[in-house]
Amino acid sequence: MFTGVKEPLVYTDVELPEPDESFGVVRLKAAALNRRDYWITLGLYPNLRFPSVLGSDGCGVYEGKEVVINPSIHWGDDPRFYSDDYFILGMVENGTFAEQVAVRKTKIYPKPEHLTAEQAAALPLAGLTAYRILFSRCQARAGDKVLISGIGGGVALLACQFAIAAGAEVWVTSGSPDKIDKAIAMGAKGGASYKNPDAMKQMGKAAGGFDVVIDSAGGKGFGQMLRLCRKGGRIGVYGGTAGSWEGVSVPNFFFKQLSIYGSTMGSDAEFGQMLDFVRTHRIVPVVGRVFDLKDGNEALQVMKESTQFGKVVLRISS
Ligand SMILES: NC(=O)c1ccc[n+]([C@@H]2O[C@H](COP(=O)([O-])OP(=O)(O)OC[C@H]3O[C@@H](n4cnc5c(N)ncnc54)[C@H](OP(=O)(O)O)[C@@H]3O)[C@@H](O)[C@H]2O)c1
Repeated sequence: MFTGVKEPLVYTDVELPEPDESFGVVRLKAAALNRRDYWITLGLYPNLRFPSVLGSDGCGVYEGKEVVINPSIHWGDDPRFYSDDYFILGMVENGTFAEQVAVRKTKIYPKPEHLTAEQAAALPLAGLTAYRILFSRCQARAGDKVLISGIGGGVALLACQFAIAAGAEVWVTSGSPDKIDKAIAMGAKGGASYKNPDAMKQMGKAAGGFDVVIDSAGGKGFGQMLRLCRKGGRIGVYGGTAGSWEGVSVPNFFFKQLSIYGSTMGSDAEFGQMLDFVRTHRIVPVVGRVFDLKDGNEALQVMKESTQFGKVVLRISS
């Protein structure tokens, strides 16, 4: 339970949900953390409500079947952007860091059969974000050279897995050499530290430039990544962890005919397409750390330190 900004989460009993008939109650087996949950605990998110249950990602049981939950609520009819009523499960409505959650029945989807509950819980928010930015927005396709920044991130790692499965050549950045090695072991072609501009330049040369860049950091490294793009490059942006863009060369941008695509989460159609893609390519989300539900504050600490490779998951029941 989230009771206040910068307060530890409280493990406690809460009233069982009594939703109307458009909702179903999912008995949760596992949930996963996103950077959003950490931002919320710091008060860095709009429309905060106390007390409330955080958590956007969950896998559990509904009507005797294993299911995953689509956390993207009220996207609306326009595939280009979400409606004014849009929100994400886990704020403002109670989320998945709980034994049960009430969700709209239309948001309950069969779990991909090849995944464990913990792996499936790692998929919804990050998978939807990665799928939309990579395929709907940046139109990544087989043969593209794709650069994904901050590969330790949950969305970044799924984008890497999706792009490789689609036949792209994937390169990564990270603050950790160990995480770059792990991405290479999963099929990435190479990588460089985003803290080392020379290494980034070398990587760009080795790749021969990039057709697609997927970034959630922004900040000082953003301009350099644009300079590493090939003509016609597409840049997908879904976050700004390191702050506003710096070092962007405007002539480089227009002479090379670059395009920047902002992206957030995705529609119900994209969620379904993402699950189909995961089934077809037998993609297994990487679970970096697993904690018991009652140890949610330890899980948040891992998010704070960004030491994980893959998603941080809460085990709820077996
Ligand atoms: N638009 C959306 O729908 C959406 C959805 C999900 C997340 N987000 C946003 O996207 C960002 C990442 O979220 P997440 O949950 O995927 O990530 P996460 O699991 O919290 O990981 C964040 C990662 O960012 C990387 N990073 C930190 N500083 C960096 C820098 N200067 N340059 C490049 N990478 C850097 C680190 O990678 P290394 O460990 O490899 O160094 C770190 O592991 C957050 O800002 C989040 O709010 C947006």
